[in-house]
Amino acid sequence: MPGLTVLVIGGGGREHAICIGLDDSASVDSIHAAPGNAGTSLVGTNHPVAVSDVEGLITLADELEADLVVVGPEAPLVNGLADSLRAAGVACFGPHSDGARLEGSKLHAKRVMQSLGVPTGGCLVIEDASAIETALDSFEPPWVVKRDVLAAGKGVTVTSDRNEAHDALVTGFGQDGFVLLEEHLSGEEASVLVVMDESGYVCLPASQDHKRVGEGDTGPNTGGMGAYAPAPVVTPAVLQRVIDEIVEPMHHHLRNQDVPYRGCLYVGLMIDSGGKPGVIEFNVRFGDPETQVTIPLISSDLAELLLACAEGRVSDIEVEFHPHSAATVVLASEGYPASSATGRVISGSEIEIEEGEIRAFVHYAGTSFDDAGNLVSSGGRVLSATGIAPGIGEAVTAAYEVIGCIGLEGSHYRSDIAYRALQRV
Ligand code: AMP
Ligand code: GLY
Repeated sequence: MPGLTVLVIGGGGREHAICIGLDDSASVDSIHAAPGNAGTSLVGTNHPVAVSDVEGLITLADELEADLVVVGPEAPLVNGLADSLRAAGVACFGPHSDGARLEGSKLHAKRVMQSLGVPTGGCLVIEDASAIETALDSFEPPWVVKRDVLAAGKGVTVTSDRNEAHDALVTGFGQDGFVLLEEHLSGEEASVLVVMDESGYVCLPASQDHKRVGEGDTGPNTGGMGAYAPAPVVTPAVLQRVIDEIVEPMHHHLRNQDVPYRGCLYVGLMIDSGGKPGVIEFNVRFGDPETQVTIPLISSDLAELLLACAEGRVSDIEVEFHPHSAATVVLASEGYPASSATGRVISGSEIEIEEGEIRAFVHYAGTSFDDAGNLVSSGGRVLSATGIAPGIGEAVTAAYEVIGCIGLEGSHYRSDIAYRALQRV
């Protein structure tokens, strides 16, 4: 039987990790990415079609006669790419636009959770200034203010400063007509990525990312400065609660929609000191950089899993995992997250480590080749160094060994990725 032709949508480190996973899949014949990045071009063919160009992506899938399209980012899903691909008879990993509202609208996600009894923080909808003071009084600080838009993690303000919370509320309803004030959940964050369709679901190893730019989880929020998996805070007992209280009711709900959900449900969790999980957010796609530490831990054929999900037969697939840990450290451009200096030459990124069961290499993100063929930075998060090893300590050490070899003027990375897991070892 001829192998699969797979088209991956997106151009971040997540998409490079997906492409590497597909390259390792015996079932895959050819890999394409749109628009891709320097890394995806090493394992497949890049096509200059933007993720916002839904028509262009459908035409590309048709021209390539793709057997499977894997959608990395959320925006095309919210904009109906999966609906159009399925209408054109192309298998798509990623939910239809109605399913994608779980990420596209935090209010919608909240209402779904409340209707199902899924544990999450309480929430008030603020539409005008007269409601603000009473609303602020009804939750203990810190306050959590969320805009109900796709904001790449930047539409959230968490603050114990009442004036700042007040201002965020005013700005929010000024911009969007309403804004959410949410109960603050305390504890330790973790994510469980669940590959889900109407037939069943598979939970991938739990991960933890580092959203803040600075050491010790300080400073502004970013897309993610590093991640590791498995996250020890998600003990077998915690995972069982996540499954019973969150994944099962969500699966029951999503499988019974007119068009069932087929893709990754990213469950963003806060786990309190008693091991009780609460949902911070749902995303409708793999996380970035969580994917870079999750997909390398899958030992069975990734393409078979994603295609089965796109076709509604996940329950037929046996998914196996390496008994290893993975850590990834993001190298960001000068100025990130406020701004990013781009077009600078990157050196040393071809380094790879392979020593017994320890491996480390680079996942490329905001990178491209200039006219002279130099690898240059083209985004905020430029690349990440990923280590995979039997233990988390060795994985972290290997990742830092790789990142220490990379040259990029003005770049920065955190030196404490996985510190919570390392404290527990
Ligand atoms: P989100 O875009 O919803 O993931 O929010 C971004 C970050 O804000 C999360 O990763 C959390 O660190 C924080 N956050 C969001 N909602 C809450 C909440 N209800 N309680 C505590 N922290 C939160
Ligand atoms: N790393 C967080 C996310 O992908 O949303």
